[in-house]
Amino acid sequence: MKATAEDKILAEKFLRTVPVFTSLSEQYFNDIVQTIRIQHFKKDETVFYQSDTSNDLYIVLSGKVRASIFNEEGEELVLAVFEGGSFFGEMGLIDGADRSATLIADEDSILSVLERRRFLELIKQDVLIAIELLIILADRIRTANRMVGSLAFLDVNERLEKLLLHLALKDGKQNKDGLYKIRKMHQSEMAAQVGASRATVSKALKVLTFKKVLTERQGHFLIKPDLTKLTSEF
Ligand code: CMP
Repeated sequence: MKATAEDKILAEKFLRTVPVFTSLSEQYFNDIVQTIRIQHFKKDETVFYQSDTSNDLYIVLSGKVRASIFNEEGEELVLAVFEGGSFFGEMGLIDGADRSATLIADEDSILSVLERRRFLELIKQDVLIAIELLIILADRIRTANRMVGSLAFLDVNERLEKLLLHLALKDGKQNKDGLYKIRKMHQSEMAAQVGASRATVSKALKVLTFKKVLTERQGHFLIKPDLTKLTSEF
């Protein structure tokens, strides 16, 4: 789909909020806005596949995109979720190697796409961009370490409980009984987030329901928060 005038306005507005670009001078910023491409993706559409050749950096203007890897049976593990103002594709952009994950739109999304050559030029012109990028990469490694720790040291029940508590605090609305209401998720969606099969998640949900951590109500989940679970190491 071709970029509309509104897309360009959206790009201009959002790019200023992307940490990597906050230090950019007015002149370079305007250059970028002129050369950037805008792409629209429908929910569940693939942006690119793991092992594709890397060319561009993608910045999320609106919507939500997830980075996942798959095993031979097609089971998915979600590595990260990118929302408005965040970027992805930086790994291939930096080392020129193939894409390390498959990127799929979680919602209808508008992305702006910056060519590798342009981004490398920017880094040469403004070292603060490189520093900002390194800070974000360090943060992504920390998050990946926590995920490795969870996969290695927590069982599926604990990983699922942690995921639900995290979502409750991030997106949930607390009712008068102190329970957090979040949207009901499909078992396959939860399985992809905690690195387990759908059947194992189904069993784990029964355990959490029995422990009264989770209650299912028409179209949503009610979560009873145990904050100590979130402060534990993984
Ligand atoms: P790239 O390898 O070019 O394409 C896939 C992208 O997914 C990658 O760049 C990162 O932007 C993102 N990605 C891959 N693995 C992770 C991870 N563990 N944490 C956060 N983002 C990741």
